[in-house]
Amino acid sequence: MSTLTRALVIGSSGGIGESLVQQLTLSGRYSQVFAVSRSLPTFPVDGVKYQIMESQHEEAIAEFCQKTAHPLEPFSLVVCCIGCLHGRFENGVQVSPEKRLEDINAAQLQYYFHINTVLPALWLKHLEPLVRGTIAANLVFLSARVGSINDNTLGGWYGYRASKSALNMVLKTAQIELQRRAKNVCIVSYHPGTVDTKLSAPFQANVKPEKLFTAAFTAKQLLSQLDNFSASHGPYFVDWEGKTIAW
Ligand SMILES: NC(=O)c1ccc[n+]([C@@H]2O[C@H](COP(=O)([O-])OP(=O)(O)OC[C@H]3O[C@@H](n4cnc5c(N)ncnc54)[C@H](OP(=O)(O)O)[C@@H]3O)[C@@H](O)[C@H]2O)c1
Repeated sequence: MSTLTRALVIGSSGGIGESLVQQLTLSGRYSQVFAVSRSLPTFPVDGVKYQIMESQHEEAIAEFCQKTAHPLEPFSLVVCCIGCLHGRFENGVQVSPEKRLEDINAAQLQYYFHINTVLPALWLKHLEPLVRGTIAANLVFLSARVGSINDNTLGGWYGYRASKSALNMVLKTAQIELQRRAKNVCIVSYHPGTVDTKLSAPFQANVKPEKLFTAAFTAKQLLSQLDNFSASHGPYFVDWEGKTIAW
């Protein structure tokens, strides 16, 4: 008899998150799909348990993870989609990726690090009760190839790159710790390619049409790779084709 497992998408109203929730539900592979987001998605999916939450409130993350953990129905998949490349501060000032050293400023760096590194790290801290046990579980975090220090040949985008590199370091460090105390948990840092979402919209002009993926294709690619990951070989830093990216 196979054990029923559950899945969680964090950041489920973003472009990739919304498609993941749809496809995880359609797959029929999970007994329950949970979706956490700051607001409901445009098209809520029947049967999904939605939780509206501000991830910057760590107590809310801890409470969600404790109250959702269930010994008989473990989670075998968590995908964290949280990330930003551009946006606005509360005072309305635009945040956009730095092109040169002169563009660096403290508030913007803090914004990138807060969303791209700190919030996923807080989730990682509290996810263990959901996934620890005898069932294999994948914790997938959407990172970006530009976070690879080795692969950086173009420069630019200081804050986004550095905050995704920092996320990768958090993930790699956590896998070492979990290999000692939660041996079933595999951590994956995932580059989805360039995807047609709000995040990439201002930067799509030079992207060849065949290199600009739909969110639906992106979700399908990610889900098709899940069975290839194993905790003893983690952490992984892989792209949408399953190719390894140098850290
Ligand atoms: N699109 C691309 O080309 C591309 C390329 C490489 C990597 N990625 C990565 O893929 C992930 C998903 O991006 P996307 O393309 O789907 O972009 P998106 O549509 O803009 O979605 C952004 C995601 O980040 C979350 N988020 C943003 N600001 C947040 C905040 N202050 N607090 C909590 N959550 C916040 C959103 O959560 P809510 O649901 O709560 O709104 C949403 O899940 C990101 O980590 C991004 O860096 C995307």
